[in-house]
Amino acid sequence: MPDTIFVLNGPNLNLLGTREPEIYGAETLDDNAGQLEDRARELDLAIDMRQSNHEGHLVDWLHEAQASGAKAVLLNAGAFTHTSIALHDAIKGIKTPVIEVHLSNPHKRESFRHTSFVGQAAKGTVAGFGALSYVLALEAASRI
Ligand code: DQA
Repeated sequence: MPDTIFVLNGPNLNLLGTREPEIYGAETLDDNAGQLEDRARELDLAIDMRQSNHEGHLVDWLHEAQASGAKAVLLNAGAFTHTSIALHDAIKGIKTPVIEVHLSNPHKRESFRHTSFVGQAAKGTVAGFGALSYVLALEAASRI
C-alpha cells in the first residue's frame, strides 16, 4: 500500500482557472490534481486531494490526516494562511508533517499577505511556482 499525502486547499481555490489568472494561472484545481497524481504514482505515493471554503473543514482534515496515518499534508490554506490561529494550532497539534504551499509568492504581494500563521507552524514552505509548487512540495514530502 503506498503512503498517502493529504493535499488540502482552502477558500477560493475552487475558482482556479478563472480566478485572477494573471496571478494564479489558467489551470484548474483538477488540472493541478492530475499533475500531482502523475508524480505521486512515480514516487509510489497516493494523493488525497480536497478543497473547502470553510476553515473548520481544514482543521478537521488536519486531524484526520494524523488519525488516518497520512505521511504528510500539503496545505494551501488560501487567505486563511494569513488569519487563522485555528489552523496554526491544528498544525502544531498533530505530528504529521505539514508543508505550506502557495501558487503565488505572498511576500511579493500586499503586506497583509506577509504574515503566515500556517508557515509559522509548518515544516516548510513552497511558494511562487504556480502549480509546480505542489509538485515540489510533494517531492519534499516524499523525502521526509
Ligand atoms: C494563495 C495566496 C493567498 O494569499 C491567497 O489568499 C490565496 C492563494 C496562493 O496559493 O498563492 O487564496 O494561497
